[in-house]
This record gives sequence, C-alpha cells and structure tokens, in this order.
Amino acid sequence: SNAQNKTQASQALQPSQASQGPSEAMQATARANANIALVKYWGKADESLIIPHASSLSLTVDGLGTTTQVTFHDGTSGKAAASKHESEESDETGDTLTIDGERHQGKALHRVSAFLDRIRELAGIQARANVISCNTVPYAAGLASSASAFAALAAAASHAAGLHMDDRDLSRLARYGSGSASRSIYAGLAVWHAGHDDASSYAEAIASLLESEGASADAAESARDFGMHLAMIVILISNKKKAISSRAAMHRSVETSPLYRPWIQSCKDDLRQAITAVRRGDIEMLGTVTERNSYGMHATMMTAQPPVLFWQPETVEALHAVEDLRASGLGAWSTMDAGPNVKVLTSAKDAVRVCEALRERMPERDIRIHMAGEGVRILDKNLDM
Ligand code: DP6
Repeated sequence: SNAQNKTQASQALQPSQASQGPSEAMQATARANANIALVKYWGKADESLIIPHASSLSLTVDGLGTTTQVTFHDGTSGKAAASKHESEESDETGDTLTIDGERHQGKALHRVSAFLDRIRELAGIQARANVISCNTVPYAAGLASSASAFAALAAAASHAAGLHMDDRDLSRLARYGSGSASRSIYAGLAVWHAGHDDASSYAEAIASLLESEGASADAAESARDFGMHLAMIVILISNKKKAISSRAAMHRSVETSPLYRPWIQSCKDDLRQAITAVRRGDIEMLGTVTERNSYGMHATMMTAQPPVLFWQPETVEALHAVEDLRASGLGAWSTMDAGPNVKVLTSAKDAVRVCEALRERMPERDIRIHMAGEGVRILDKNLDM
C-alpha cells in the first residue's frame, strides 16, 4: 500500500510540479484568519484525535491572521529517513520552522513536524519542509492564535504536497494541529461538529449547516450574511505569554472541575439557541448566549484543581464596561478565551460607536475592531522571504 500511496501521490503532484518546473521545490503559501468562539470548545473526548466533548460555533475575524509558506525539498537526505520516533528524541526532525523572523526548535517545531508527517503520509512523500510563518497582529504581541496558524499550515502544506483537499478534509486536517483551527477554514460563522471519530469531527460554514438541516437556499444565504455583518472588538488587557496553555487548562478542567459535565450540557443547549438566533438574525439572542457561554467556560477553569484564573483586575473592569454599555442601549456582549483579554461581539454597523464608547471608558487600553473575515486561501504568488 506504500507503493500505491506513492503512485497516487506522484500523480497528484503533477499539477504543482508542472507549474513550477522540475528543479524547483514543491511550494505553496496560504493565509488564514483567527476565529473567536461564540459557543466555546473546551475539553477533549479524545486527546490524540482532537475530538471535543461538544460542538462549537465561531466567527472568523479579519486583522488577526497568519500567512505561511511551506516548501518541501525534493530528494531524501539522511535526516529525511529518520523515523518520527528518532526525530522526537534527537530534535532532528529535518524540518525547519521560522515564526515572525525567529527560528524555532523544540516543542513548537515538533508539533509542526508531527503535523507535517500526517500530510507526508497522505501524499506518500518523505521530503522535509521549511515552514516560514508571519502573523499579522496589530497589537504588540500575544494575540497570535494557533487557529490561524494551523489553518494556514494545513492549506499551504497540503497544497505544496500536491494534495487537493476540499474544505471538509482541510478542516479535519487542521483540527489535528489545534482544535479551533478546524473552524478557521471558513469565512464568518462556522460550526465544528464534535463528531465521534476522525471522519465525523469537522467544521462547516453556517450556510451549509443550515441547508443540510433543511433550510432554503435563501435562508442559508441570509444566515451567512448575518454572520458577515458581525464584528469583534478586542480589548487588549495583556500581551504577555500566558502561564498555562489552553490545551493544558482545558485538560485540567475536564479532569478536575465538578462543573465540567453541566458545562457540556449547557454547550449543547447554547449551540441550539445560537443557531436559532442566527436563523432569526437576532443579534441580541446570539449575544446573550455568547456571553453566558464564555462565563460558563471560565467557571470550569476557576473550579478546576488547581484553579486556572486568567482574569486580571482590568479584565473585570472591561467586563463591567460592556455591561454598562449595554444598559445604555448599545448592542455589545463580552466573551473571553484562555487569557485575560476581553472580546466584544457587536454588529458591523454598531462597531465604531461601541469601540468609541469603550475607548472613552478605558482610554489607556488598546481597543480595536475586527470585522467578520474570510476563510483560508492559497495565495497565488509565493512570498519573497
Ligand atoms: C478558549 O484550539 O487552542 O479558544 O485543540 O488543544 O490546540 P487545542 O486547543 P485550542 O483551544 C481553543 C480554546 C478556546 C475556545 C475556542 O476557540 O473554542
């Protein structure tokens, strides 16, 4: 079957090789945006397959993204022959990883290299890769996300390897890098179906979900539109690297929080209600679900053993500010991820007003608008890096 894989791969590789000439390496560049969950993914049922305990819903946003170039080098060097096991021990993966101009080794490189192994296996190739990645984050740092990183890597690497994947397969592939990356394949609102195995755990765009649930093409299209007219305002509280990763924090919540079971039940209810809200174009209902779901996730962290508390005093100040804005009649709802920063869901048409009101209230904070953004895409030209 290895030989068969290779035959398939060499056929699949022909288009990209043909366009690049025989002596050039297999190369592709992709760009992906980050996404912010409205109904959160928090906890895995299967840690090696990255199958979550519950389905989630997110908004892909512009301005927080990753552009990644992957180059597979032809021919197999000595290093290329090293087995995965050996490479983990020796730190000699044969791949290289550069993020924002800095060479990475150790954990980060191994995570990328293990991810590339999956693609090499699918394509039946052994070539080692150079991965160069740039984050576009308007803040000092700290908001670079694994969602945009692995969505861009999945697209660039699969393309460079000559694999032609549809969005669903790309979503399943990105999932292995980071669960939330499965959703960054799509523009606007996306739902990640928890599923129960590799094949059934993937994300899809809201319109396609609604159509598969029997909605008319018009209803699906207006749900898509509704999503594309949402915005997230990010209130930067801190750009320091977090003390505990989301991966470790969610693991601890699953294992030790007495609130974990009720949290999963509430996610199922929240997702149903969020989808109803989207179908109705009701941002108030969607915002209400979004805000309570985020508090529920943080409750599972605060009740973990030992507790995980991402909140800073300024976090609480920002949460109160959002509440006060809403009391004054503005449509704004808070949500938080595995860190101290506060994100505010609002509509595109209210975004400037909400942003101004937040800046007035917290003049010392860096506060920016991120409109609904596009899904992952392959860039025509490789970056000259
Ligand atoms: C709080 O996708 O970073 O942002 O699958 O372990 O890589 P891994 O976790 P990751 O977790 C994201 C958690 C979250 C909520 C969400 O995005 O749904």
